[in-house]
Amino acid sequence: MTSIAPIDTFHLDNNLGANKTELFSHQSINYKALRERAYNLRWATLPEDVIPLTAADPDFPIAPEIITAIQRYAGAGVFSYGPADGLSSFRNIAAEVLRKRKKVSCKADLILPIDGAASGMFTIAKMALKPGDEAIVFDPVDFLFQQSIEAAGGKVIRLPFDLKTRTFNPDDLYRLISPRTKMICICNPHNPIGRVLNEKELSILGKVAVENKLWIMNDEIWSDIVYSNSSFHSIVNVHPWVAERTITVHGFSKTFGLAGLRMGYIVTPNEKVYHDIVTTSKVASTSSGVTTISQIAATAAYQDCWYWADAFLVHLEKVRDYAVKRLNSINGLHCVQPEGTYVLFVNIESFGISEEEMAAYLLKHAKVAVVPGAAKWFGPGASGHIRLCFSTSMDIITTAIDRIEYALMQLRIKKSKPIFDSLNNWEKMIESF
Ligand SMILES: Cc1ncc(COP(=O)(O)O)c(C=O)c1O
Repeated sequence: MTSIAPIDTFHLDNNLGANKTELFSHQSINYKALRERAYNLRWATLPEDVIPLTAADPDFPIAPEIITAIQRYAGAGVFSYGPADGLSSFRNIAAEVLRKRKKVSCKADLILPIDGAASGMFTIAKMALKPGDEAIVFDPVDFLFQQSIEAAGGKVIRLPFDLKTRTFNPDDLYRLISPRTKMICICNPHNPIGRVLNEKELSILGKVAVENKLWIMNDEIWSDIVYSNSSFHSIVNVHPWVAERTITVHGFSKTFGLAGLRMGYIVTPNEKVYHDIVTTSKVASTSSGVTTISQIAATAAYQDCWYWADAFLVHLEKVRDYAVKRLNSINGLHCVQPEGTYVLFVNIESFGISEEEMAAYLLKHAKVAVVPGAAKWFGPGASGHIRLCFSTSMDIITTAIDRIEYALMQLRIKKSKPIFDSLNNWEKMIESF
């Protein structure tokens, strides 16, 4: 058994900030700022002694070039209205990044900056669906798909993502198409399973969309977090007819840690669709849209910070390899190495308790917060699992897993207690004879 770190020997008391240390070292983490600012089930929302492996949001400070760009822009002291459909500097660099890094050709003026990928998904669903229309989503998958479809009055139709084969069955997909189906939703790379969809899977999804004249909501927010044993393909490259039906969202929360700036973008090769997206988003009326400062930060990220994102990925791959090995060595846990994303989807079925009970147990006894594979987060297909985010330091992930290991060992002992109790009784019975 590996060593167990008691909860009270683990102190996260550094407060150094990014510039004083190596990128992605434990010392680089500004724990004081996380305590104040990291919400969404993370540091700011939990007791001091709890490690949050919950929302997929990095613990590390952002790249220094982004900080400088924000300071320089703010220094001019002018925060007038920006262009309704975004800063051209951002749209140009986004088009270049898509071309160079994702091999996706697109026009800068068909890119709409928006206040986060989540908001992009809601906008796409609102544009594509009328009340009662059906949209197909993977099961399990991130809850934002369900929420965005239902907010548009649509009906969620779940396509099982088999957790053993780690893919979907094309027959299921064909079977789920009805006259009311209007959209297929793709999460590539897949949160929470960590799969990066291959060209064959994308071709099937694209073919079904074209044959049935469906929209494709294509969430590629995780497409920079793809490890060395895999490679990313965008569905828009399957065929121009598929691209015409595809509306893609990208974001800055996962790759560059800018979740609090609420920045993302929607892109489509289809001019009419772009126009409809702009209308739906209400950016022209100024009642919606992303702040200029967030676009400045995102422009700096795309222009100057790929060295940072690439180093982040190298760090994440080390943490992934360590965490998967350690978790699989714990009696009763099982997880498959993700090809992309920085979440681990861990099977806990052997403990005979629900995912909600397991999350509550780990919070109380391991002082580690995880996301239960509850239907409200990922759909019914996530049951029997918990999700752990690992975009943190090696020290924190090691301590978190030490705690989980110790707590689960105790859970096993507790659960087998009735056997000991009956054995004791049996011994007493023998003694009494
Ligand atoms: C698949 C997926 N899409 C969208 C989002 C939301 O991204 P943003 O922070 O840009 O709204 C997330 C965040 O966890 C995600 O995992």
